[in-house]
Amino acid sequence: MSARKLIISNDLRTDLENFLATLTYDKLFVLTDTNTKEKCYPLIRDIPPLQAARLICIPPGDRHKNMEQLSAVWQILSSEGASRSSLLINLGGGMITDLGGFAGATFKRGLQTLHIPTTLMAAVDAAVGGKTGINFNGLKNEIGAFYPPVGVFIDCDFLRTLDRENLLSGYAEMIKHALLSSMEMYNPVLSFDWNQPIDYELLSQMAAQSVAIKERIAEEDPKEKGIRKALNLGHTVGHAMESLSFENNTPLLHGHAVAAGIICELYLSYKQCNFPSDKLTRTTYYIKEYYPPFFFDCKAYDRLYERMTHDKKNENGVINFTLLSDVGRIHINRSVHQALLFESLDFYRESFGI
Ligand SMILES: NC(=O)c1ccc[n+]([C@@H]2O[C@H](COP(=O)([O-])OP(=O)(O)OC[C@H]3O[C@@H](n4cnc5c(N)ncnc54)[C@H](O)[C@@H]3O)[C@@H](O)[C@H]2O)c1
Ligand SMILES: [Zn+2]
Repeated sequence: MSARKLIISNDLRTDLENFLATLTYDKLFVLTDTNTKEKCYPLIRDIPPLQAARLICIPPGDRHKNMEQLSAVWQILSSEGASRSSLLINLGGGMITDLGGFAGATFKRGLQTLHIPTTLMAAVDAAVGGKTGINFNGLKNEIGAFYPPVGVFIDCDFLRTLDRENLLSGYAEMIKHALLSSMEMYNPVLSFDWNQPIDYELLSQMAAQSVAIKERIAEEDPKEKGIRKALNLGHTVGHAMESLSFENNTPLLHGHAVAAGIICELYLSYKQCNFPSDKLTRTTYYIKEYYPPFFFDCKAYDRLYERMTHDKKNENGVINFTLLSDVGRIHINRSVHQALLFESLDFYRESFGI
């Protein structure tokens, strides 16, 4: 289910040109949003194979990951005579790799797709693992397909134009991957200093290690029947906070909600699986240092709980958590008493002085 090729590139133009020469396709399409058209497409557009490409551009942001924009992409593919042997390059963040990946999965039952992630979130998470889709009926990623691209090209040069909030959003998934893997990864990730000018070289190296973890886990369990659920660490509470933030008109970026969710779920891990308290403290301090607080009071606990009960990953109405007994020691399908869950929300608020 994973991409046929995951390439971490230091010379994207050459690597991409060489890779395209190995593929057979009749027509070439490039999907961007308005930001990646302006900031990212210029980095690759003059390589010879892209001269004949048809550019498709849609508005940016998760709220446009919808039927209307999907239909707009299908429309252009159709009017331009795309066939099953056409190639669609998705150049953008997770919104573009998700929507473009799904457009590619469904048009004529599937043409070839290739992802070039341009955000940290897409590079370490969205573009790998084969999940594609759109939001529908107010529900995130409600319609979609598992559809691996023929290749994923990661070049962290794109990150130089990305703002700090979006960098930190993707970085939360790197914290998660570090927690799921080993101290060799946890230590450097939890030492990266966001108060200094960004060290893109170091960030790229860590991103390459991070995406390898996602790829390994997704490959082992492509359809999320078992170990892939580990990737939900921080997401059970995080998704609930994300959706509450939208309701309250104080929208959180996905990764910022995940960072908050990680604090709560490590607290649950500490209480229920003996996750070491020093690592709980260290992770909490790190997140507190760089991520904005999510303000809520105890009156919101029931609403957060209610959202968690609606999580897609639940089975038989029981909320399923991924917990850790240490860095790299993963326990999936864990249930937690409501009282302890509320205690973890207290812990988050106390840590942030809310
Ligand atoms: N399929 C999966 O497994 C998976 C995993 C994680 C997230 N996702 C999805 O990914 C989406 C979030 O991804 P995201 O955080 O990349 O958001 P995004 O694609 O909306 O990008 C965030 C913003 O950054 C802009 N941008 C992108 N690249 C840029 C660059 N290099 N320089 C400057 N601006 C740039 C975009 O135009 C957008 O405004 C959500 O829809 C989420 O559901 C999917
Ligand atoms: Zn996530």
